[in-house]
Amino acid sequence: MTSPADIVPGPVSPEDADGPVPFSAAEILERCDILATHSSRIGAIERSYLTAEHARTNWTVGEWMAEAGLEPWQDAAGNQRGTLAGPEDDAPVLMLASHLDTVPGAGRYDGILGTLMAIAVVGRLSAKGVELPFGIEVLGFADEEGTRFGRTLLGSCAVAGAWQDSWWDLKDAQGISLRTAFEAFGLDPSRIEEAALPREQVLGYLEAHIEQGPLLEDAGRALGVVTGIMGARRFDLTMIGEAGHAGGMPYGRRRDGLLGASELVTAIEELSRDNGAIGTVGRMQAFPGAANVIPGRAEFSLDLRAETDALRDHVWDLIQERAEKICAARNLSFEAVERHDATATVVGTRLADAIRAGIAATGDAEPLELLSKAGHDAMAVASLTDYAMLFVRCGGGISHHRDESVIEADVALALDAFEAAVLDLARDFC
Ligand code: GLV
Ligand code: MN
Ligand code: MN
Repeated sequence: MTSPADIVPGPVSPEDADGPVPFSAAEILERCDILATHSSRIGAIERSYLTAEHARTNWTVGEWMAEAGLEPWQDAAGNQRGTLAGPEDDAPVLMLASHLDTVPGAGRYDGILGTLMAIAVVGRLSAKGVELPFGIEVLGFADEEGTRFGRTLLGSCAVAGAWQDSWWDLKDAQGISLRTAFEAFGLDPSRIEEAALPREQVLGYLEAHIEQGPLLEDAGRALGVVTGIMGARRFDLTMIGEAGHAGGMPYGRRRDGLLGASELVTAIEELSRDNGAIGTVGRMQAFPGAANVIPGRAEFSLDLRAETDALRDHVWDLIQERAEKICAARNLSFEAVERHDATATVVGTRLADAIRAGIAATGDAEPLELLSKAGHDAMAVASLTDYAMLFVRCGGGISHHRDESVIEADVALALDAFEAAVLDLARDFC
């Protein structure tokens, strides 16, 4: 066995490789391509919670975990986990994680890259015979995006011990409840608490992720260190008027829900932008939905984010005030149902320093610091333990889109940095 202090981060056994070098950037990218085929849609990537694709992905990733020296298992929430035991039974546990689910029409790297990087780092350290002073738990979270049940971070909330009983009644677009979907997947809802990690055992949480924005690329940097994650709220909004004849009903008497919603959508952009928040309406549907019928009802979503929860909530108040004005002018009513809220968080100092040291070991002595505007499992885990994140440059800042891209050289640097960050933490125990 080798002490962490003597290890130089980098790939292992290049000369024996048949195919990509084990635990290398090339192998990770090849595996991202493989997981892209675990999709519910032909020609597009979509993998949501508690589906056949989710099960197949867990199985495949479990095999890769075993190759890296991890003990693979699926937890009570459907997260795919791999355990590397520490030197003693009660040794602290370092979590290395990201997610394995996707949005509809996703790219190949959001969440997947970080999960496979975590596995590869353990594989490298195992292959080099490193004896770490702590255990490692690699987690491929099962539901970060919230695509199926509207509530995000379900997998990581279960691990953080923050699961809420009210979630069992959440329904998907087919009306299937979360409880029913759990049972159909072979999970037992009454055992959900078994997914939680004991707080006293956890040392911290590290996640690598593509940036999902253009700042690293604009700055000409491959890697960045995250300072915190914006808080987010999501709502289902409805503008309610009255359907009517598209020809016969005069303008002065129309109660067009879609027009009211449309006015509010542009107001959401104006109010969010002017106040330093980010508001997005990603879905809208008009009812009854015929060319010659005035849409009496419009249903739409709102995703609202800001650096602080206070700012985000202030902008939500402004949006509601504007909705009331629009309703008064157009004789409509407005309903809002909150589907998700996640508190803004900041990284843990020691862990962020480890990420900084990791990036410095790759030659960038003063890494770019980035506030994450995207949500991450780290937000849920922040209620359990400190976290830090490593960002990897992605092409054009594009994410949540099939054209998501990374370059192999950046992933290679990111792997070295992530491995060096783990070793940096290990040195605290030497
Ligand atoms: C997750 O990708 C989010 O930020 O919505
Ligand atoms: Mn995402
Ligand atoms: Mn993600």
